[in-house]
Amino acid sequence: MATKRRAKQPKRDKTTDDNSTHTNGNTTNDKLEALQPFRESGMDETLTTNQGTRINDDQNSLKAGARGPSLLEDFILREKITHFDHERIPERVVHARGAAAHGHFRVYEPLSRLTRAKFLQDPAAKTPVFVRFSTVAGSRGSSDLARDVRGFAVKFYTEEGNFDLVGNNIPVFFIQDAVKFPDLIHAVKPEPHHEIPQAASAHDTFWDFISLMPESMHMIMWVMSDRAIPRSLRMMEGFGVHTFRLVNERDESRFVKFHWKPLLGVHSVLWDEALKISGKDPDFHRRDLWEAIASGAYAEWELGLQVIEEKDEHAFDFDLLDPTKIVPEELVPVQRVGRLTLDRNPDNFFAETEQVAFHPGHVVPGIDFTDDPLLQGRLFSYTDTQLTRLGGPNFHEIPINRPVAPVHNNQRDGLMRQTISTSHASYAPNTLGGGCPFQAGARMGGFVSYPERTGDAKTRRRGEKFFDHFSQATLFWNSQSETEKHHIVHALRFELGKLETGAIRERMVGMLANVDRTLAEQVAEGLGLPAIPAVEPPLNRSIPADGRPEDFEPRRAKSTSALERSAALSMANTVKDTAKTRKVAILAADGVDAAAIETMKTALTAAGAVAKVVAPHGGTLSGTRGVKIAVDFSLLTVGSVLFDAVFVPGGVQSVKTLKADAMAVLFVNEAYKHCKALAATGEGIALLPHHNGARGAPATVEEIEEGVVGGGDGDVSSVATALLKAIARHRAWSREEKGQHVPA
Ligand code: HEM
Repeated sequence: MATKRRAKQPKRDKTTDDNSTHTNGNTTNDKLEALQPFRESGMDETLTTNQGTRINDDQNSLKAGARGPSLLEDFILREKITHFDHERIPERVVHARGAAAHGHFRVYEPLSRLTRAKFLQDPAAKTPVFVRFSTVAGSRGSSDLARDVRGFAVKFYTEEGNFDLVGNNIPVFFIQDAVKFPDLIHAVKPEPHHEIPQAASAHDTFWDFISLMPESMHMIMWVMSDRAIPRSLRMMEGFGVHTFRLVNERDESRFVKFHWKPLLGVHSVLWDEALKISGKDPDFHRRDLWEAIASGAYAEWELGLQVIEEKDEHAFDFDLLDPTKIVPEELVPVQRVGRLTLDRNPDNFFAETEQVAFHPGHVVPGIDFTDDPLLQGRLFSYTDTQLTRLGGPNFHEIPINRPVAPVHNNQRDGLMRQTISTSHASYAPNTLGGGCPFQAGARMGGFVSYPERTGDAKTRRRGEKFFDHFSQATLFWNSQSETEKHHIVHALRFELGKLETGAIRERMVGMLANVDRTLAEQVAEGLGLPAIPAVEPPLNRSIPADGRPEDFEPRRAKSTSALERSAALSMANTVKDTAKTRKVAILAADGVDAAAIETMKTALTAAGAVAKVVAPHGGTLSGTRGVKIAVDFSLLTVGSVLFDAVFVPGGVQSVKTLKADAMAVLFVNEAYKHCKALAATGEGIALLPHHNGARGAPATVEEIEEGVVGGGDGDVSSVATALLKAIARHRAWSREEKGQHVPA
């Protein structure tokens, strides 16, 4: 692809591009500064080989005569092809599909009571971060909208070293013990004989495994909910999942659960939309993140902590070490302690997003682990896999992975070593190197592991409370709104409906009955099963060869009924007060009311929303009074599923054209069906489903039904206000049933 010519740049700033115009004071970001020497744009420079030799002809290889054989001597050809041949590295074994951004974190108040971690002390300090979001099961090129848990991995470049909070957008996990992770991933990945399906759990091996794993049932409720199909990476929560420890200067330890709370609220799309988005724009999430940051609408979350005193370790009817359990916010409130802001897109996907290496074992003094058996396994897995993925032991030297804290140790050599160690002594103790580098005492910030007491018998057993597999799955189900429950039932009907093996489907429905009978009945009905199939004990087939089945039977904690619902588990209770960054399609054709477009665009932009004109053809539209209107997208290139709302302005000719255009009608119908905010003025009302113009525009601005706003040609400003309110509510779920009857 041809490189755009640009004006000459000052030498130091050769990498300047559109991205860095949106860095919002990022000059103070130590990590971005540290990356500067590695940035290279080639702008206004000559083409060279990797050895710096200037290249005169990059169009023709060296040949013996114009029609003769190519010559081995052609070092330019050989170097270029050789490098190309090795451009690919293995994709991540899980979480292969991802998108990332730079930013910073700032704590609100010093947290010295809880932790000695320095980056959590000074509200004036900005800690640089790099955050990568991902899906788990799909390949690197798969669709963003797969039904899946999303990875939410944050690398804090602190002055005491890198701290990686490698979490997900769902607070629990499928399994309790790391030893089952390869089984889980083998089951969910495409089936080995034909590598079908891509980025989907709706197939036999996944549900075969899950139907034999009662411990997965809580996680299954989350991944079958709309949490698994977020509207935006910027609109999802994040969770550390495991219980960690915070340790303060006095060596006091407390248990902690980490949360990320998005300032825009937690919102999702519908499954029908997800399927269509995967076709219209498989890069929907990464594009959304990129465009928001590039436009200056930075993505923000608050860091939340649930802190539990050591003495309360056993105060709950679940085990804090069990990663299939949450700590309900009603029992331990989430304290919001700081803010994460993502404000700069990466310069290069491969160099940064692909090569970044996260690891839950990257901690700093003041943060420590617990004995959660899933976490303990993860502590081994990440560096191990990265040795293969990134090709050797020196990937910590790749620019994106380097800490801003200095690194000195006696590790040496290995593939692609960058550091030139000048000391003769690569061992300790030594005298030849003056005893350096020397160990840091705790007072100097040396990491000291929390001296947790251990000493029980060696065993492969799990804690007693781990076997309560259903209470919190039921709690999640009970906490959902009717709309959310409906979506979970449909997700299960879809997933299980795709199975080829009837016995797996039946076993799974039987398992669901342990969560809630109504849920199981509704799923069974959709699958055409006459009754809920009985699941024979022991439910958990995943028992040791010599295990006694009765020891592995799931059991419900007695006191769980004390908490029947938890408000934080339902997206119905999320933030719904802003239309910021929401995308509105203005559907128009030639002859459209140009003034209405202008007024609507101004109002939407002022509220931080994004307005795009969608028309039957690209280029420009001729509006009323001969006004020319730039078209952002032709109908052929987009779909309503890529927008949050639709506005249809008046204009006799425009509306006539749109009504006769099947794609335009589908656009509005589909938005209606997906419960999105709709607005129309003047003749535009005729495009609204159920309002086919017979009635004309309402006399004054009116919410014709939930989330559908109409008004006269003179009311555009008030219609915009009502539309923005409807967008802020995300969706008008009361229309969902009616939407089923709209052809779309
Ligand atoms: C024993 C259980 C687990 C094992 C063995 C495991 C292993 C892995 C591996 C091998 C990778 C690829 C890393 C790379 O190539 O750089 C990965 C990525 C990831 N894992 Fe896990 N994982 C486990 C559980 C979890 C859990 C419970 C979470 C969430 C709390 C999680 C979150 C992530 C995330 C976010 C990534 C992507 C990191 C990135 O963006 O590069 N994993 N995991």
